[in-house]
Amino acid sequence: MSNSLIESMMAAVKASPDDLPLRRHLAELLIAAGRGPEAVSHLAVALAQEPADSGTQALMSQALGGAPPEASPPASPPADEKRGVDWKAYEKELDGAVPPRFARADDEPDPIEGDQDRTIDIELSAVKLADVGGMKDVKKRLDLAFLAPLKNEKLRSMYGKSLRGGLLLYGPPGCGKTFLARAVAGEMGARFVTVSLVDVLNMWIGQSERNLHEIFQAARRNAPCVLFLDEVDALGHKRSQMQSSSMRTLGNQLLAELDGMEGTNDGVFVLAATNAPWDVDPALRRPGRLDRTVLVIPPDAEARAAILEVHLRDRPIAGIDLKRLAAATDKFSGADLAHLCETAAEYAMHDSVTSGHVRMIEQRDMEAALQEVRPSTGPWLQTARNVAMFANEDGAYSDLAKYLKKNKLI
Ligand SMILES: Nc1ncnc2c1ncn2[C@@H]1O[C@H](COP(=O)(O)OP(=O)(O)OP(=O)(O)O)[C@@H](O)[C@H]1O
Ligand SMILES: [Mg+2]
Repeated sequence: MSNSLIESMMAAVKASPDDLPLRRHLAELLIAAGRGPEAVSHLAVALAQEPADSGTQALMSQALGGAPPEASPPASPPADEKRGVDWKAYEKELDGAVPPRFARADDEPDPIEGDQDRTIDIELSAVKLADVGGMKDVKKRLDLAFLAPLKNEKLRSMYGKSLRGGLLLYGPPGCGKTFLARAVAGEMGARFVTVSLVDVLNMWIGQSERNLHEIFQAARRNAPCVLFLDEVDALGHKRSQMQSSSMRTLGNQLLAELDGMEGTNDGVFVLAATNAPWDVDPALRRPGRLDRTVLVIPPDAEARAAILEVHLRDRPIAGIDLKRLAAATDKFSGADLAHLCETAAEYAMHDSVTSGHVRMIEQRDMEAALQEVRPSTGPWLQTARNVAMFANEDGAYSDLAKYLKKNKLI
């Protein structure tokens, strides 16, 4: 079941909340995709208006974890079929009618979804730095910090540089920090361990330190690897500002792990990401810990075209002018660009549903979406502006200040 179809259906339902057959069909797709809990709310809306509809009732029991969809067909034929709309044929038509829009190599890896960074996993990363659009400066910094030392053992021993270290990526949300981190892992042929606060925090007091320790141990066992600490501001929040003592202990544990108190950190590259470096405990940024920082700014035009391409890849499009769109989306984050594509799909889908004629997503849909979707980086840039102006005595944010100046934001 294609996720983009579900996404488009969700958008269509959002646009026409009163269209019950549409909603029911979305629920069916969600159930088939194993996303029953998400189907429940849609079915509840449908049942509120048509409580006696047996088809909806059957779907609801499936969504609530009843018999699997294949095992028990709904008691009555789906309402859509009654209405004469053959959704299956619709989907087929969309599938077949979509020739590849971009020439691509066969071995190219799948795009990484933003929310995949929420799981703790040890995996071989298939993304390479070349898959990251634009961001030349950031890539160069990463190369100097991690990749060059790893590849040149002789140089390393000459300069006495150890195979360890930490780097903090910071920047507005949705701008590719996670994506970059995975690319570094792919480039090193090394493995990639992700830690996010959700993985580490545990209901049981004392358990979270152990979780953190275990994650570091896993990284050490899998060295050389990149250990990626996501949302490190939450994990390493300024200890003075921390209300709960258990969070404070966790912060201390993180410092101890970074120092390699219980085992050597050789071959463990710590990469961290945050939206709010100003909230990160300064102790975390001392030499030997996360001592280098790299600013990940909203994508430039080249990166925006690459990101748009990724998000249009699985959708039926025709005649999209990437260059024009890239030029018109200044300050958009990767996530904003994803939302833009979604909104355009919503327009095309809505049009197809109302006219009964399936059509591609066209440039006009993207233009219409451009009228609606605004860049979300504004508030972050505003905070960043204050920091660069009033809290940059030690020069820690000079590249941020440079970026803001270049864009006439200060
Ligand atoms: N330079 C880029 N090239 C290609 N795709 C990109 C690029 N930057 C971002 N993306 C796309 O945008 C999505 C969002 O990026 P990502 O999740 O890495 O953001 P983030 O900076 O980690 O955000 P957050 O702070 O919210 O965690 C990625 O899944 C990726 O597909
Ligand atoms: Mg992220």
